[in-house]
This record gives sequence, C-alpha cells and structure tokens, in this order.
Amino acid sequence: MADLSIEFYAVRFKNPVIAASSELTLNAANMRRCIDAGVGGLVAKTLTDSEAMRNQTRKNSKWRFLNEKHRVSPGKLPREFFFYGRSGLAEEEPAEWAVELKEAAACAEEHDAVVIGSAASSSGPAGWAELAKIIEDCGIPLIELNFGCPHPSQMVGEKTGMVVGQDPEAPCEAMAAVAGAVSIPVITKLTPQVTDMVEMSRRVREAGASAVTLTNRFVGFTVDIENERPQLYGWAGVGGPWIKPLSLRSVSKTHVAMPDLPITGSNGCYDGNEILEFMMSGARIVQMCSAVMLKGYPYFTEVIRQVDAFVERKEYQSIDQIVGIAARKALTYDEIMALPPEKAEIDYDLCVDCGICAERCYYHSTRESDGRYEVGDTCRGCGLCSTVCPEAAVSIVGGRVL
Ligand SMILES: Cc1cc2nc3c(=O)[nH]c(=O)nc-3n(C[C@H](O)[C@H](O)[C@H](O)COP(=O)(O)O)c2cc1C
Repeated sequence: MADLSIEFYAVRFKNPVIAASSELTLNAANMRRCIDAGVGGLVAKTLTDSEAMRNQTRKNSKWRFLNEKHRVSPGKLPREFFFYGRSGLAEEEPAEWAVELKEAAACAEEHDAVVIGSAASSSGPAGWAELAKIIEDCGIPLIELNFGCPHPSQMVGEKTGMVVGQDPEAPCEAMAAVAGAVSIPVITKLTPQVTDMVEMSRRVREAGASAVTLTNRFVGFTVDIENERPQLYGWAGVGGPWIKPLSLRSVSKTHVAMPDLPITGSNGCYDGNEILEFMMSGARIVQMCSAVMLKGYPYFTEVIRQVDAFVERKEYQSIDQIVGIAARKALTYDEIMALPPEKAEIDYDLCVDCGICAERCYYHSTRESDGRYEVGDTCRGCGLCSTVCPEAAVSIVGGRVL
C-alpha cells in the first residue's frame, strides 16, 4: 500500500478519506464503524445547545434517495442520485455527548485515526465558545464549526448553521469567540449558499479559523406531480454526486486565492477518484457522507483502496504533491482566448452521413456539400457535433496539446 498520509494543520491523517459529520458519526458506535472501515478521520455529529436541533434528528429525520428523474427508485442505486432530506444535529445534551466523543477518541487512537469534533450553537458567540471548549476538553485535536447546516433556515428562530453562515458578521464573531476559548485548530464548515466563497473563507480566516470545510449542502425543493405536493412535505437539504462541480469550484477558487489555507472538501464526493478530484482542486482531506450512507460503512474501505491504487500507479512520492495540482493549471478566460484555435474534423471512414452534426451546428459551420458533410470556416471547435455524433466520427483538433 502507498503512503497516503497527509498533514492537515499539523494534525497527521493516515489517509485523506474522512467520514463527514452526519448519521454516519451519530454516536460512539457509529464512529467506531467508520474507524473500523479504515478512514483517516471522521467528523463527529454536530454537538449543539439547541433542543430544537436535537429534536429535528429525533423526530424529523426523513431522507429520500432520488433517481435522475427525481423519483424514489426502491432497491436501485443510481450513481448520480439526489439525496433529498432533513435531519438535525447530535441528539445528546453536551455532557452526554462528551461521553460518546471520548469513547470515539479512544477508539481512534488505537487505530491511528483522528476524531474531529463539530459544534453549532444557537446562543451566539459565547455559546459557540462553550461547545468548542467541551470538545477540546475531550482530548479532540481539531474542531469544525458548522456554519452550513441547511435546516435552521427552515426553522423559526434557530440562529445556527447556515443562518449564521449567511449573516455578514455572525460567523466571524462566533469564530473569534471560539479562537479565544480553545487552543486547538478550528475549521469552519461553510454553507454553499453565499455569493462569494473565497471572500467568506478569507473573512473567517481573519477571525481566527485555521482551515475551512467547503461545503455543507444546499436547501432544495422537489415536487411529486401526481400528488401535486412537494416531496417530504416541503423544503429540505439536497446534495449528491451531481453537485460535485459546484463544490470543486469553491475548493479550487479558494485554494488558488489562499494556497496556504488548509481545505477539507465536502459535498458530492462519490468514490476514490472523486477524492482525488477534490484533492487536485485544493482539498487536503475529503469528507464523504451520502454515498457511504447509501452503500454502507465497508464502502469506505473500497474508496481508500481506489485512492491507493491511483497513487501507486502514478508513483507519487507523497499524496501532498497532488493537492491543488489541477487548480493551479486552470487558465483564465483571457488565457484560453490566446490558445491556438480548435476545429471539428470528420473521419469519413466512420461517418454515415446522418447529418446530426450539421443539424446541431448552431454556428452554421458544418453543412452538406457535394453529398457529404464538411466543417466550414466558422467552426469554433465548440465540441457539440463530436458529442452528438452516433458514430464517434467527429473529433476536435488544434488548441493546446496537453
Ligand atoms: C443525513 C445527514 C446528516 C447530516 N448531519 C450533519 C451534521 O450533523 N453536521 C454537519 O456539519 N453536517 C451534516 N451533514 C452534512 C454532511 O456532513 C456533508 O457535508 C454533506 O452531506 C455533503 O457531503 P456528501 O455529498 O458526501 O453527502 C449531514 C448530511 C446528511 C445527509
């Protein structure tokens, strides 16, 4: 097995695969299952001082895995599933939660894994600081502040999670209070529902955050047309593998702007290759939730095996090498403009003259001429004809040789 270990703000993880804060880490027994499956670390379910958020988990946990038509498909696990649902935060009161956390930390130590504590207060900065201190006192080496939980935004008067994350001042005030209360590094987990993720990351960093988690889930809405109602009675959190490009945008933009800010990736990671995509975009460690909830804890072992196989095949000296490697190669629109032109090229040995390429050419470049289709001068190499050609007879040539 390759060496998959990586440093994250001076905390060493044996591999970058992390169980996200969720029902996967609902209590010590569940955290043990993550550790047994081989994760480098896990984020415990979020500790809260809000009875309403505890009750959400106890009484309002409802989830639907929807297929590509946004329908429940029992027994079938589409790869591009939508996970639509709601839950709350940790069910235990802080003192009871500390017992779970200490048990998980002891188990993690035995197995060279890391437990990250998670907190979300609805009592303002002092409340965030108090919860963080409880976590630190359990011997936990890292804390994640949950400024991203989508559900409080649908609850009356719950000023925590995403409601704090979207406020112009509250996340920085909470972060500053926590930084003053604990001596361990603090990660802030952000909501994707802000306009400028880079600016948000910069602001929490200035307030004392050592790292950021990008990102928690969105709030969504799906409709059951037969019953003319929303699914699951109303608004709920939504995510799944399809969301990954949006998460990678947040990760890559933030990494390029602040390369020395450690990032943990979250929201849309499906398998080992996608762990690598998050890392190449700039994440040092990557959290997984929905895909593992769907497939079960042993899936973590498979994901780690996939990462290992890639790292071995590529003969990387250290997994550190790949962090941000793709983000740094991203060209600006102006730089892309300066590349040599690209153009469609038809392989007439494969072409069957169906004409789909011409019919879908919105620049009127590919046309029929003397009984065959030809690419004209107005071609910009957009690539649509190559995508729709049923015979794979069209390729795009030119541009920069990669
Ligand atoms: C059922 C469920 C419960 C969750 N509970 C928490 C939580 O307590 N704290 C938190 O920070 N995030 C929570 N999350 C968000 C996940 O940690 C994760 O950020 C999100 O699901 C996106 O990752 P994924 O695409 O791997 O699922 C929860 C997500 C789900 C689906």
